[in-house]
Amino acid sequence: MKLTIIGTGYVGLVTGTCFAELGNEVICADNDEGKIKTLNSGGMPIYEPGLSELVENNRRKGRLRFTHDVPQAVNDSDVIFICVGTPPRNDGSADLSAIEKVSKVIALNMKSYKLIVEKSTVPVETGEWVKTTINNYKKNGSDFDVASNPEFLREGSAIADFMNPDRVVIGVDTEKAGNIMRELYEPLRSKIVVTNIKGAEIIKHASNSFLATKISFINAISNICERTGADVAAVAEGIGMDRRISTHFLKAGIGFGGSCFPKDVKAFIHISEKVGYPFGLLKEVEKINEGQKDLFMKKIAGMLWNIAGKHIAVWGLAFKPDTDDIRSAPAIDIAGRLLDEGAVLAVYDPVAMEKSRAELGDRVKYCGDVYETAKDADCVLLMTEWNEFKEVDWLKIKGIMKQPIVIDGRNLYDPVKLKALGFRYAGIGRG
Ligand code: UDX
Repeated sequence: MKLTIIGTGYVGLVTGTCFAELGNEVICADNDEGKIKTLNSGGMPIYEPGLSELVENNRRKGRLRFTHDVPQAVNDSDVIFICVGTPPRNDGSADLSAIEKVSKVIALNMKSYKLIVEKSTVPVETGEWVKTTINNYKKNGSDFDVASNPEFLREGSAIADFMNPDRVVIGVDTEKAGNIMRELYEPLRSKIVVTNIKGAEIIKHASNSFLATKISFINAISNICERTGADVAAVAEGIGMDRRISTHFLKAGIGFGGSCFPKDVKAFIHISEKVGYPFGLLKEVEKINEGQKDLFMKKIAGMLWNIAGKHIAVWGLAFKPDTDDIRSAPAIDIAGRLLDEGAVLAVYDPVAMEKSRAELGDRVKYCGDVYETAKDADCVLLMTEWNEFKEVDWLKIKGIMKQPIVIDGRNLYDPVKLKALGFRYAGIGRG
């Protein structure tokens, strides 16, 4: 099939590349000329394992091309995916102005039937607005359909998630649109859920909100464990073995971050309120998530006494491993609070250093590895559970630190081992 993907951000780039890999002819369009230039010269605007090789391979085979001529790209394909950003506004609602702009460009430039697919995460009823906008602006009688096809890609494993999804969700209001979407996803041989557009829009927000709820739930449990002497990892294992609950997304820590969960939970709270159902449970999910960072700060103060003037080594800045994304990263939030309290920070992340520099500026020391951060440190903070942090030479670390203190925000380390080596250790919910 001929596909145009509008928006070459994280979702658009992964979606377009994977559809090309499945044999489709894909045009990725973006009005950001700089981004298109980077892509056309073999560069990558984002970090995602395996993506750059896949882009190159499909470009060479002529199935994938990049352009900033969005109107032409609309003309050249039958199926158009909208993958533009829907950032949060101050009141928590999603800013849908980019979706409106793209809908208008499509309306003004389509000369034949188009299937317009919302891939961006949007609140329920956005599909209706896309339809209305296209009807209002279109210049001729060209027929079109709108579909909703939410993505469930996790940063760091987005290609595998695309190619082997748990399910594909398709929201359509006509048989024709449904048939095109089924055909498109047929090569994945995945389970497909077909519902109406509004249902698909809600599935996306409900999925992310449910996963965020699981994380906040286990984080709440971790606080009970900590106060009573239980180990949250054992508790999570015990409840997760019930297949109705499952062990996934039950890792306690310093809270969820990233570009999706915080934003989507907020947007879902907002849209629920708008339709007359204030979603109190999700407000509590947010509150627990914020509370985890407050508690982590208290934990640091509990181990260090005064924070001002203390040298602190920060291991990991990305919101999770295998990504350079620091959007809503708990590590960045906590680093900012420590700086405000007068701490001296030495930071290291395997890939998120450049992005962190833009956020933290020259207020911290940027290091080449964990050992450099630990030199003369009063305390190590493990913030992101990167693989390379799993095995470190603890004797060497202890030898170069001022005080042997480790505070583990992701329960990555074995407390017994660290204590035996002479460290003072604190994790999350490890009574
Ligand atoms: C998420 C969804 O998983 C994906 O389906 C959706 O399309 C986009 O949003 P992503 O933001 O890439 O993906 O990250 P994810 O792996 O879901 O983790 C989100 C956050 O939750 C991270 O900060 C992570 O550290 C945290 N988390 C996750 C926990 O604290 N505990 C867990 O058990 C799982």
